[in-house]
Amino acid sequence: MTILVTGSAGFIGSNFVLDWLADHDETVVSLDKLTYAGNRENLASLDSDARHHFVKGDIGDTRLVSSLLEQHRPRAVLNFAAESHVDRSILGPEDFIQTNVVGTFHLLEAVRAYWGALDEQSKADFRFLHVSTDEVYGTLEVQAPAFTEEHPYQPNSPYSASKAASDHLVRAYHHTYGLPVLTTNCSNNYGPYHFPEKLIPLVIRNALAGEALPIYGDGQQIRDWLYVKDHCSAIRRVLEAGQVGETYNVGGWNEKANLEVVHYICDTLDREAPRADGLSYREQISFVKDRPGHDRRYAIDATRLERELGWRPAETFETGIAKTVRWYLDNQAWVENVASGAYREWLSQQYA
Ligand code: NAD
Ligand code: DAU
Repeated sequence: MTILVTGSAGFIGSNFVLDWLADHDETVVSLDKLTYAGNRENLASLDSDARHHFVKGDIGDTRLVSSLLEQHRPRAVLNFAAESHVDRSILGPEDFIQTNVVGTFHLLEAVRAYWGALDEQSKADFRFLHVSTDEVYGTLEVQAPAFTEEHPYQPNSPYSASKAASDHLVRAYHHTYGLPVLTTNCSNNYGPYHFPEKLIPLVIRNALAGEALPIYGDGQQIRDWLYVKDHCSAIRRVLEAGQVGETYNVGGWNEKANLEVVHYICDTLDREAPRADGLSYREQISFVKDRPGHDRRYAIDATRLERELGWRPAETFETGIAKTVRWYLDNQAWVENVASGAYREWLSQQYA
């Protein structure tokens, strides 16, 4: 048995593949374009593992995807590939439309052709699992109930609009063609291999580098944080037992304001890697101009996933952050490698 995983060299995709192969003997075919966010090194520990085949390529390349499907005959395709950073989507939305909308469309077309030619049993057993986000639901007032799967789509950024479009395509391929799809809509992840353009790894990296910790606006925007390995376990569970055509919200039951998150990381670093001058990393916090159209609050109601499939996160925010900070302290070389010239250019453009 084989699964095809797209976006496997990115943050969540690489955690998923590593966890999968730690637990299963089922072969993984990895497809990743290796954009700035994709890092082959994340999967280096699998280089001599016969159960893993890495292919550099684009989900929008129908010929390549079709030939991989024919060659490896996967029983499932899991689509993690995307442009994923909201701030980059604001400065340059085009790549988001190309990969998240057009790329997903081409991927679906290749999968539809492959799936349509399977025998009846393999057709019934096949799954296309689309990894999506809570941002498709838009923003919440502070007192409003958390997003359920029934919440209307109201995406506010080019990123979330492109993800919403991809979700709609996936849904339509089930409704129209009967493709056996599953969609997960997850809240903010954090953990190992998180590219340091996102809040948590950026704060850890900048703190240790003696640089400013940029907080957008008043820092009171709320996100619902989930340790990445809990997201991966939820995806495995949905793949295993999710009802075809359904969507599942995945969240950590961990709503925190950004400033609270940054304070917590600073306090953890103060204990684990104290500054030479004895001052707190909190001294490095700097309030900067807000993100345009910044969503105020996301919160996921993951009741359905718990009730129907028995999934709950294993980590609390405190245990997850402790593991994450420890991983970054132990993997400074990984951070140095990804913090290339292009990364520095991004920082100076975004935080000028
Ligand atoms: P990421 O940016 O770290 O990784 C994305 C990966 O996709 C990279 O390896 C990149 O090279 C690859 N990729 C980009 N365009 C591609 C293309 N056209 N063809 C093939 N590969 C391509 O993103 P992530 O944080 O790991 O997110 C993975 C998925 O999970 C995305 O779909 C994202 O929308 C979703 N998601 C992320 C979060 C989060 O907090 N990070 C939360 C919920 C959902
Ligand atoms: O909710 C799920 C989404 O979470 C995923 O779909 C996205 O792919 C992922 O990037 C993430 O989006 P956010 O925009 O919420 O994550 P980010 O880490 O960029 O920002 C988290 C919060 O921190 C947000 O309110 C913006 C704020 N922030 C971010 C950065 C990078 C800052 O205050 N300063 C910063 O420098």
